[in-house]
Amino acid sequence: MNLNPRYLVAKLREIPEYQQLFEKAWAWGVTLERIVGALAAFERTLLVTNSLFDRYLHSDLHVLGADEKQGMTIFFGERGTCAKCHAGSLLTDQKFYNLGVAELPELINNPQHRSTRNFFLGEMGLKAMDRDPGDYVVTREASNMGAFRTPPLRQVEQTGPYMHNGSIATLTEVIEYFNQGGE
Ligand code: HEC
Repeated sequence: MNLNPRYLVAKLREIPEYQQLFEKAWAWGVTLERIVGALAAFERTLLVTNSLFDRYLHSDLHVLGADEKQGMTIFFGERGTCAKCHAGSLLTDQKFYNLGVAELPELINNPQHRSTRNFFLGEMGLKAMDRDPGDYVVTREASNMGAFRTPPLRQVEQTGPYMHNGSIATLTEVIEYFNQGGE
């Protein structure tokens, strides 16, 4: 949300509608724990159980057309090796990788983004940076600089724009990106 968590709480407390809705839901005001709880409750409503892929996994082998089957062969096979990272029922290994996704200058230099990022890095005991350090903030391993968690690919058609910074607009462009070997 491009916000420092403590600032987020202070901000929502100033908005009467949120204050009232939080009191209604929890008989208590806004806290970080309840914001996280509300987001988690919302995410639990986003269920996908009957996609073509699910039906295929449940042995309905005829639901996929020829193109889709060919795509799956590439995705899970030696050519794409996508399933090396996008594995399991959520299509993620939950691990972190730096794919070299380019920074978006208009985002990384946006004054609000800059100030939030550098304030947050300061709170974490790090110096200001002109890039998104990703998992490095947590692990402090140089090899995790710019690494992001493999995203799940459920309903991915509906969740663009793509990558941690939304820098790739369409799935076709994501495929082109992987096809050229990243950046
Ligand atoms: C080395 C592990 C790895 C492999 C192999 C891999 N991915 Fe990814 N994929 C990732 C990571 C990590 C990200 C997020 C990168 C970022 O945001 O900087 C990602 C992002 C994506 C996204 C964007 C999802 C979103 O919600 O933003 C799609 C779509 C995707 N990958 C599809 C594929 C396809 C198709 C292949 C095979 C051609 C593939 N991936 C191979 C790790 C991998």
